[in-house]
Amino acid sequence: MEWLACYRTVLAAAGRDELDYPKVAGLPLLRDSLAGYLGRVRGVRSSVETVMVTAGFAQGLSLLCEALPRFGIRKLAIEDPGHNNQRRFIEECGMRTVPVPLDGEGVDVDRLAATGARAVLVTPAHQFPTGITMSPARRQALVRWAQDVDGLIIEDDYDGEFWFDQSHRPSSLQELAPDQVIYAGTASKALVPGLRLGWLAVPPHLSALLSKVRSRHDLGSDGITQRAFSELITSGMLDRHLRRVRSRYRSRREAFTQAVELHLPCAGIVGSSAGLHAYLQLPADIEESPLVEAALRRSVLVHGGKRYQFTPGERPPALVVGYSTLPLAGIAESMFAIRDAVDEQRAARGRFATGGPVAHRRAGQRKAVHSRS
Ligand SMILES: Cc1ncc(COP(=O)(O)O)c(C=O)c1O
Repeated sequence: MEWLACYRTVLAAAGRDELDYPKVAGLPLLRDSLAGYLGRVRGVRSSVETVMVTAGFAQGLSLLCEALPRFGIRKLAIEDPGHNNQRRFIEECGMRTVPVPLDGEGVDVDRLAATGARAVLVTPAHQFPTGITMSPARRQALVRWAQDVDGLIIEDDYDGEFWFDQSHRPSSLQELAPDQVIYAGTASKALVPGLRLGWLAVPPHLSALLSKVRSRHDLGSDGITQRAFSELITSGMLDRHLRRVRSRYRSRREAFTQAVELHLPCAGIVGSSAGLHAYLQLPADIEESPLVEAALRRSVLVHGGKRYQFTPGERPPALVVGYSTLPLAGIAESMFAIRDAVDEQRAARGRFATGGPVAHRRAGQRKAVHSRS
């Protein structure tokens, strides 16, 4: 509704200038609103000159992959586990990827340094897919690494608007070192992915180069959408929308946590309570792929953790579960269905484990848990 109101306002006021070619880096109007907004909500240090509007993070990443070789950077370190489609995308854009393992505090900076890479892509607020939040010490170590190698950190803040944990929400990594960190945000989780709207806040020396690279691909993002998004920010409607959806997602996250405790006490949720998905670590005896298939037979769609591992066998079995689109009751039913599938797998091996009450439901009653990743 808010989006429609903003779009109407913009269209009603649109004259010749508003319908002309936008600047390739984005309308100054939106870049200015974004700089203010990102400073206020994520601590990002940017200005109209250093913000670029993109068609989602995907376009921002492809522009960076094209620009980094100009600085002699041809390989990009990525988190392991990480986003498998993103890895493929980066390689198709011509960069080599080097997976670097994580520990409980985030990406392992010593292992990163050993790769010889000078650029890394990280998800510090809520690591994808594990949900781990990078510790303050690790953030400092990562920034020191970037300064030592004259390198760059790409901070993918894909779901930074959604923080439900008791602890203080970490602000952006970019705040610590704006000359070393490229901050990337997106409307894909906060609004919808179909808008194809994202933004980069880049170190000043990258701005002109990125615009030049981009002008070879397109002549900028749709100006009407940019104006409407600026209106959404400056009118306070984005804040209002986020307050509303945050509260909806928070209750789903709580329902998910309760359902895991009740139906799957053998599993553990890894990472912070944030974002729209959770990483569920399973006991070592569970076979992940058959469990994913058995869940699907019960109309529950989840992904196995292995799908995101670039070095197989390093982590216990796990499920990546998206909970944002389900009704509350569906979350409990889905966890119950997974429990049922766990019991089935263990019983088939002649063992009998999980403990706690077991009830039976018809398969048709269960809902799918979709992960949008
Ligand atoms: C890890 C990660 N980064 C970034 C994005 C957003 O990409 P885009 O802005 O291209 O939709 C997603 C998906 O929403 C994601 O899962």
